[in-house]
Amino acid sequence: MTFPLGGHETTANGLVWAAYLLGQHPEAQARIAAEAREVSAGEAPSFDYLPRLTYTEKVMREALRLYPPAWYLTRRADEDVDVGGYRIPKGTTVVMNLWGLHRDPRFYPDPNAFRLERWTPEFVKGLPQLTYMPFGVGPRRCIGASFANGDAHRAGGNRPTVLPGVCTGSNGDSAGGHYPAPARRREGCPARPQ
Ligand code: HEM
Repeated sequence: MTFPLGGHETTANGLVWAAYLLGQHPEAQARIAAEAREVSAGEAPSFDYLPRLTYTEKVMREALRLYPPAWYLTRRADEDVDVGGYRIPKGTTVVMNLWGLHRDPRFYPDPNAFRLERWTPEFVKGLPQLTYMPFGVGPRRCIGASFANGDAHRAGGNRPTVLPGVCTGSNGDSAGGHYPAPARRREGCPARPQ
C-alpha cells in the first residue's frame, strides 16, 4: 500500500504545486517549456534527457521546498534520548516540521519567495545536512527518490534529477550528496530489497 499511496499523491501534489508556482511566474513557465522543447528536440520524452533538464530541476526543487507534499514526518523514540536540549522519553512520537524547516531563513534567504536562482551548485553544497528533505532521510527515505537518483547515474549524470510529470528524485534531501544506504528494518515489512 505504501507504494501506490506514497507514490501517487505525493507526486501529484508536487506537480500541482509546481504548476501553481509556474502560473504565478510566467517567465519561469516560458523557460521550462523552452527547455523541454530544446532538450527533447521533438522526440518523445525519454529518461535519457532528464539530466539535461537543469532549469526544470530547479523548479521542482523550489516547489518541493516551498510545498513539500509530505510536510511533516514522524518517528517514535525507541529509547530515551536528548535532542537539542530536549528530553524525549521512550515511546514519544516526534513530529518533524518540514514546512518550517524548508522556510527557515537561516538556510534560505527570503524563504517564502520562489527563487530559482538560489539553487546554484555552491548553494546546494553549502546547505547543512538535513535542511532540505522533501523525500525524508535515513532508512525510510523515499524509495521513489532512490530510483530516480539511480536513473540519473545510469544516464551519465551525477547530480540530482527531477522527473517532471512522473516522479522526482534528489540528492538534496540532505545537502552535499549524502545518500543514506537502504537498511534492513528491525521490524515490519521491508520496502526495499536486501
Ligand atoms: C514528489 C514525489 C514524492 C515525495 C515528495 C515523496 C516523499 C516521501 C517521503 C518524505 C518519504 C519518507 C516518509 C518517512 O520518512 O516517514 C517517502 C517514503 C516512501 N516513498 Fe515517496 N515520495 C514521492 C514519490 C514516490 C514515488 C514515485 C514512489 C514509488 C515509486 C514512492 C514510494 C515511497 C515508498 C515505498 C516509501 C516508504 C519507504 C520505506 O518506508 O522504506 N514515493 N516518500
